[in-house]
Amino acid sequence: MDRRSLVLRNVRLPGRPGHPGTDVLVEGGLFERIGGAVTPREPAVEIDAGGAWLVPGAVDMHVHLRDPGWTHKEDLQSGSRAAVAGGVTTVCDMPNTVPPTLGLEDLRAKAARAREVSLCEMRFFLALAQDNLDQIARCLEEPAFAGVKVFLGATTGDLLSGDRALERAVDRFPCLFAFHAEDETVLQEARRGAGPDPTAADHHRLRPPEAVVRGALRVAGLWRPGRRLHLCHLSSARELEVLRDHPGLTAEVTPHHLWFTAQDTGALGNWLKVNPPVRLAEDREALRRALADGAIDAVATDHAPHTLEEKALPYPQAPSGVPGLETSVPAVLRLVQEGLLTLDRAVEVLSATPARLLGLRDRGAIAEGLRADCFLWDPDGTWVPEAGDLVSRCRWSPFFGLPLARRPLATWVAGVLVHASSEFRHRTGITAPAD
Ligand code: DOR
Ligand code: ZN
Repeated sequence: MDRRSLVLRNVRLPGRPGHPGTDVLVEGGLFERIGGAVTPREPAVEIDAGGAWLVPGAVDMHVHLRDPGWTHKEDLQSGSRAAVAGGVTTVCDMPNTVPPTLGLEDLRAKAARAREVSLCEMRFFLALAQDNLDQIARCLEEPAFAGVKVFLGATTGDLLSGDRALERAVDRFPCLFAFHAEDETVLQEARRGAGPDPTAADHHRLRPPEAVVRGALRVAGLWRPGRRLHLCHLSSARELEVLRDHPGLTAEVTPHHLWFTAQDTGALGNWLKVNPPVRLAEDREALRRALADGAIDAVATDHAPHTLEEKALPYPQAPSGVPGLETSVPAVLRLVQEGLLTLDRAVEVLSATPARLLGLRDRGAIAEGLRADCFLWDPDGTWVPEAGDLVSRCRWSPFFGLPLARRPLATWVAGVLVHASSEFRHRTGITAPAD
């Protein structure tokens, strides 16, 4: 890996629209100097960015990398390649692997594997199970620890958190708690009332909005000043009311909930079988507005890869989940192109705010002294994803055929080039290790 200093000449920076043509110096993995006379102390790699935007790498709070146990769907290496190709430089992996991440050994094994194979930074959530509080306690100071994931309802992996354990955990640990907040009782009631032979079009009725509303209210009831309680993947307009009534909570939304509705299952079938489900057009519009106006804090992918064969099973057997690492940043930047978000707001929801929620103070912006996690972006034109474009082991996306913003030209993690698009390679002659 090329660890020489890096000079990026002629970049545009979010937050500094009036300053085209800034130069940036990266040394020792950090942004050393931004603007002014940029002169490296040692021999450096120099790149003329030609006025492209230099954007902070995305911090994805919610990713399922399937390693160990289900590596035919994804593993830490393939997932990290997908991440950096999509402009994601920090990935927080979820604990519903086989075995699940429940304690220090599981966490250290994942972290060691990530150090060996990952192209991006990785942090790991532990699951709150029935009885692993003492195990969680031993992980709080581990550098690779992201927080605790709580499943109020069963989904892929069938991890459920016990009520008593939950109350004791939020009382005891100062860490971030991320909630999959579909209420299990509501889910079971909806299943009992279901008709015969359900299809993907029925998924949103089998996991109705009442489930996430009741779950969100339950989380709201646990909140006290100082507690860091975060709602994952909002899917409905009604959860937004809970969020507005309880400003101490934080929340994320996925690109698939911002783009699709239950109607799209007509064309996409099980590809859109996901928990919580995509719902109605009014839900999608409310989520988009809330992302723009600040009610929703962050975008996270909930990257949940399954193979095409698995998704081709009949609806009841097909697993739930949508991949997203390669399409999330281009989708959010598409919302910038469409005028729903400013570029500054996109950077906030993709990078600055998730970094803050995770307590990662060394990233989330292009600023002197921070880690040089970033990508170059050409704001003009579109990318229409198709099968051959993807590097995730799961080579499909519900975004196939839809215009998104262009993907990163090149991506750096701590100043190391980890992804170079064919256009970047062509322009500069520089390749990244994984290309
Ligand atoms: O649809 C989902 N898939 N929702 C989840 O909560 C888990 C995820 C997975 O791991 O497949
Ligand atoms: Zn998830």
